[in-house]
This record gives sequence, C-alpha cells and structure tokens, in this order.
Amino acid sequence: MQEIVKKKEIKGLLFDLDGVIVDTAKYHYLAWKKLADDMGIPFTTGNNERLKGVSRKRSLEIILEIGNLSLSEEEKEKNCEKKNALYLTYIKQLTEEEVLPGVRKFLTEARAKGYKIALGSASRNAVLILDRLGIKELFDEIIDGNAVSKAKPDPEVFIMGAKSLKVPYDNCIVFEDAAAGIEAAHNAGMFAVGIGSSENLPQADLLLPGLNNITIEEICKRLQEVRK
Ligand code: BG6
Ligand code: MG
Repeated sequence: MQEIVKKKEIKGLLFDLDGVIVDTAKYHYLAWKKLADDMGIPFTTGNNERLKGVSRKRSLEIILEIGNLSLSEEEKEKNCEKKNALYLTYIKQLTEEEVLPGVRKFLTEARAKGYKIALGSASRNAVLILDRLGIKELFDEIIDGNAVSKAKPDPEVFIMGAKSLKVPYDNCIVFEDAAAGIEAAHNAGMFAVGIGSSENLPQADLLLPGLNNITIEEICKRLQEVRK
C-alpha cells in the first residue's frame, strides 16, 4: 500500500454517514432501547456500540442475542419496521446544526479542489438524513442501504461508490467510524481513515478525532508518512 499513496493521486473520497458526518447513534439507541424495553431485554449504551455500522436486521438480532430471545423472520421484520418508524421521528427533527464539526467545510473545500465525493452507508435513511442536514448536494454519488446487498466488511458499498465516481479503487480514501467499515475499505483495496480511537479502530491507516481543522492535503501527507 505505501507505494500507492506516493505514486497515485487520491481522486475519490468515500464517506460513511452515521458517526462520520452526523451522530445518529444516539437516535438509533433511543429507538432500539424502546423496543428492547418492550421485550424485557436489558440494553445499554455500551451494547449500542455493537450496532455501529451493522444493518438494521443484524442490529435486532444482536439485541435478541443479548436477551436470549428468538423471533420468527416475520416478527423480526415487524420489529425492524417498528424501530424504523420510531427512529424516523427523531431523524425528521434533525437540524443543519447537527452536521459534525468541520464536515461541511471539509466537503465543500474538497469538492472545490476537484475531488469526487460519494457516500457509502449501510443506512436506508441516508438520503433523508443528508436532506435534513442540507448537505446532499455536496455528494456526487450516494450509495446507501437500499443499493447494496452485502453488509460491511464486504467491500460492495465502497466498490459501488468508486465505480459510480469512475475513480480506481486505489485512488480512493474511505472515512469510517466502524471497524467493519475499515475492513470493508481494505477489502476494496482503499485507504481507510478511522474517525475515532485506536482502541476501536486498530486497523485504520490513519486515525482522526473528526474532520474539524484538517484538510484533504494534510490527510494525504499523513497517510504517506504513516506508510513510509
Ligand atoms: C449504519 C449504522 O450506518 O446504518 C447502524 O451505523 C444502522 O447502526 C445501519 O443499523 C442501518 O441504518 P438504517 O437507517 O437503515 O436503519
Ligand atoms: Mg458509521
């Protein structure tokens, strides 16, 4: 990988949504918590960490595992719908102020510099969320949970993103807050910038606390240094 950053120019930037662009984990938590309470399953904010980057159905299955409960496929489907209806009540109230610090500036500047930008998210609510945040126009392409059939760490979402941007995989950087997303980026042959801590994202090529006060050039430079 180290040769790639030196020889090849980065042209495509692929962003996860939840946890990178906006903190929706707290709303996912509130919605799942209500469902868990109704089923008598103890569900904590600590447990919620396990749901980051995980699909809606898999999230429910993890909660059922915590409660040692099993449900039919039909019941699972109903519960997922119930959870989403509740989640949407929070999402519909999202405001533009909830874009995480520095994200709007980072995206605007990177676009002006000619980088191609795509969203690569497991969420089926991605378009609604970007609309609420007023940043949908900052993305050239949106690949979300409605477009993909395989969950991260499968690289499908990022491969589709790079293809739609018409940028070779090894000219892309992925920004991710979930370990499964870092793995998906690497499985696609892309650089992975982790948003979070080394404890949660030990495999990231570079770690950042967020996208505040940093430029894309600085990130490319740091990736080079890390890989020397
Ligand atoms: C991911 C979140 O981005 O999207 C997960 O990190 C969530 O927690 C998944 O379960 C699916 O989201 P949605 O909005 O389709 O239920
Ligand atoms: Mg995420």
